[in-house]
Amino acid sequence: MSAVVQDKPADVAGRVVRWQAAHGRNHLPWQNTHDPYRVWLSEIMLQQTQVATVLGYYDRFLARFPDVAALAAATTDEVLALWAGLGYYSRARNLHRCAQQVVALHGGAFPHTAAELETLPGIGRSTAAAIASFCFGERVAILDANVRRVLTRVLGFDADLAQAASERRLWERATALLPQDDPANAMPRYTQGLMDLGATICLPRKPSCLLCPLQEVCVAARHGDPERYPVKTRTLRRTSESWWLLVARDGAGRLWLERRPDSGIWAGLHSLPVFADRAALSAAAGGGEGGDLPVFLHVLTHKDLHLHPVVVDLPAGAAPAGGGGWFGAADWKALGLPAPIKKLLTAIPGV
Ligand code: ADE
Ligand code: SF4
Repeated sequence: MSAVVQDKPADVAGRVVRWQAAHGRNHLPWQNTHDPYRVWLSEIMLQQTQVATVLGYYDRFLARFPDVAALAAATTDEVLALWAGLGYYSRARNLHRCAQQVVALHGGAFPHTAAELETLPGIGRSTAAAIASFCFGERVAILDANVRRVLTRVLGFDADLAQAASERRLWERATALLPQDDPANAMPRYTQGLMDLGATICLPRKPSCLLCPLQEVCVAARHGDPERYPVKTRTLRRTSESWWLLVARDGAGRLWLERRPDSGIWAGLHSLPVFADRAALSAAAGGGEGGDLPVFLHVLTHKDLHLHPVVVDLPAGAAPAGGGGWFGAADWKALGLPAPIKKLLTAIPGV
């Protein structure tokens, strides 16, 4: 550290807080509230989903479940139906479990510290810290993907985050940067400010350093190499799979659906039955030769799914093998179906 830096501390926190007040996002529906239920719901929805998409779900969800008790009392199917289209359905299942735990173990009030919040289903370290800093002004660091990018660049932190020890050190460095004074006011702004910088200025490629309040103190900007950060060696391999989807109809125009297993892709949602190949599908359909519809691609985070729908019309009284049931259009339209399945079904005439 040079003497200059010691004489004039970088004041990362002050810069972020002032910038957030003037240039950050301050009118999102989950801001300007300290209600942990509302903040928690937004943070879970925003974990793997863009703000623009979440905006279309958040108010609708709150209108149906205005508080944690209402959510806890709902059925899993109701929750999944309101979540359908947001993806990553384990979030919805954990959301429901978390609400039930808040009611059962905490008398219906979210705990006030990040440490306690982190014991609840679906709330990881960063989400717990976001809720505690937004609602209770706790001095705790967040490190979601956006904030990780901002802070590794500012600090010139180039250790490999695939190593647990580097990851731990980054949390310590992030904690050391937190605002010192007036946490009740500074923490919500600081936390939101880092998120806003990551989402609007310090982008993965071509960050807008000229507009950034941290430019003068940012190591990566000084070296002209922000895109080098964050450093993480392990990269996830993308894979590809083909799934055959049985679109079985009975004489009454009903559709055969079954519930997906509790883990994996589309966990817990109702879906068309899925088969690894055409022969397995035909065997389960039990005759009733089908019409193959065009294959379509559904892209998940780590996998490309090539979906092969096959329509099979079964005579009255017959049913495909396996656990499932017949659903009329009014019934399946109200279920939580995976978005690509819903889209497929809506496009088939007469389903
Ligand atoms: N992403 C995660 N939390 C967020 C928030 N509070 N505002 C905007 N984007 C976010
Ligand atoms: Fe990111 Fe550039 Fe700001 Fe550094 S100066 S934090 S690299 S936008």
